Amino acid sequence: MHWIDIVAAIAAQRHSGMVCVTASVDNLNFHHAIKLGEVVTLEASVNRAFRTSMEIGVRVTAHGNAKFPERKANSAYLTFVAIDGDGKPQAVPPVEPETDDQRRRYTEALQRREVRLQARRQE
Ligand SMILES: CC(C)(COP(=O)(O)OP(=O)(O)OC[C@H]1O[C@@H](n2cnc3c(N)ncnc32)[C@H](O)[C@@H]1OP(=O)(O)O)[C@@H](O)C(=O)NCCC(=O)NCCS
Repeated sequence: MHWIDIVAAIAAQRHSGMVCVTASVDNLNFHHAIKLGEVVTLEASVNRAFRTSMEIGVRVTAHGNAKFPERKANSAYLTFVAIDGDGKPQAVPPVEPETDDQRRRYTEALQRREVRLQARRQE
């Protein structure tokens, strides 16, 4: 989970060019266990940028061996907010999806944001 947060932060900071903080983590799914000694890779994508926040999707792949095949181990959606030196949220550049996958993630990110904002309003 720590690695997921780190790769998502790197993606958010590379996209925005600013320091970013984790606002929330949702849908952290554990699809398959990672066995001791396995190699994992983490891939992050900036699915969509809103005003000052960005949804980042992270996929963790476990690279198997003779006993365990390569498989998707975890996935998660995180929201990061770009901030200035005083911790004040700052506007971020938009995401321009190019591929079908990127367009799908872009569309779905808006639906997830609405669920998130509604949950935040009920806190
Ligand atoms: C995240 C943080 C900067 C937001 O500041 P805020 O004063 O609540 O700002 P706002 O209400 O104006 O919200 C700013 C953006 O954050 C988003 N946001 C705030 N809380 C959120 C949450 N829980 N989930 C998703 N998005 C959230 C808002 O939707 C808004 O997005 P938008 O500008 O793209 O529309 C502030 O709450 C904070 O610093 N939190 C602590 C962060 C932290 O310590 N993280 C862990 C270690 S890095």
